[in-house]
Amino acid sequence: MKKITKAVFPVAGMGSRFLPATKATAKEMLPVVDKPLIQYAVEEAVAAGITDMVFITGRHKRAIEDHFDKAYELEASLEANGKTELLRMVQSVVPKHVNCIYIRQAEPLGLGHAVLCARPVVQEEPFAVLLADDLIDATPSVVKQMVAVYNEHQCSVLGVQDVPRAHTRQYGIVSATHLAPNVEKVHGIVEKPSPDVAPSTLAVVGRYILTPRIFHHLEHVQPGSGGEIQLTDGIAALLTEEQLLAYRFEGERYDCGSKLGYLQAQVAYGLKHEELRAGFSAYLKKVCDAG
Ligand code: UTP
Repeated sequence: MKKITKAVFPVAGMGSRFLPATKATAKEMLPVVDKPLIQYAVEEAVAAGITDMVFITGRHKRAIEDHFDKAYELEASLEANGKTELLRMVQSVVPKHVNCIYIRQAEPLGLGHAVLCARPVVQEEPFAVLLADDLIDATPSVVKQMVAVYNEHQCSVLGVQDVPRAHTRQYGIVSATHLAPNVEKVHGIVEKPSPDVAPSTLAVVGRYILTPRIFHHLEHVQPGSGGEIQLTDGIAALLTEEQLLAYRFEGERYDCGSKLGYLQAQVAYGLKHEELRAGFSAYLKKVCDAG
């Protein structure tokens, strides 16, 4: 049985819904309280026992690389000033046993193309894909839950959740039948169907475990609307050859690719934050009472 040791983080998108904030930085570097989205995603993968983090970067490569690199000057300055707690925090952004690998996606040709860029590193192994703008608060981490499903069934697993029918146009939607608690066998997948033709309301959100056969299919996918190579089309082709499961994960998801979801995440994580909880909840109460 092959263990999942690699995670792919596509971070080369345009982030157009967050302009101008994303003009000079990647969407995945936007912070929720005090941590960038990409760090939450890496922590989630580390919690699942994954050791190789493969970032598919675009024009904002530097910021992501710098975030996960050693920061000599900053660390020296924190040490000189006796700020040991902050020093410890900066040094633990990635644990020492974890490798960070960067691959450049020269043009944003779509999520499917971004995943295909990981092939030279992933090679013939099953791997996880995490879209950091889907922030998921879960214990154990969602990827850990999905690795357990993979270990049991030895096939690709998609993280899914039910969405309101009016929202199907924002997601890949699967048709599936019940297999085990929280696990569905997938029969079909379509990208962004309109509510009247969507086969279900079970939406794929930003967590995947994929077998390496996906690369073969992504190579042959024809660009869809906007010239983008869709991961959903690659998965649909994979489904003609291999079993595919959908896993209804346990956890609270925040769609941080949208402004509303991002604000909701700030509130939820602010209220969970040890130092902020009391002051922030008092402030929110005041705002709500006034409004
Ligand atoms: P989105 O569909 O959210 O697109 O990408 P986007 O460009 O990031 O954001 P908007 O819609 O313009 O606001 C889903 C994920 O796929 C990555 C993005 O970085 C994000 O994590 N992606 C998308 C790539 O890495 N490369 C691409 O060519 C497209």
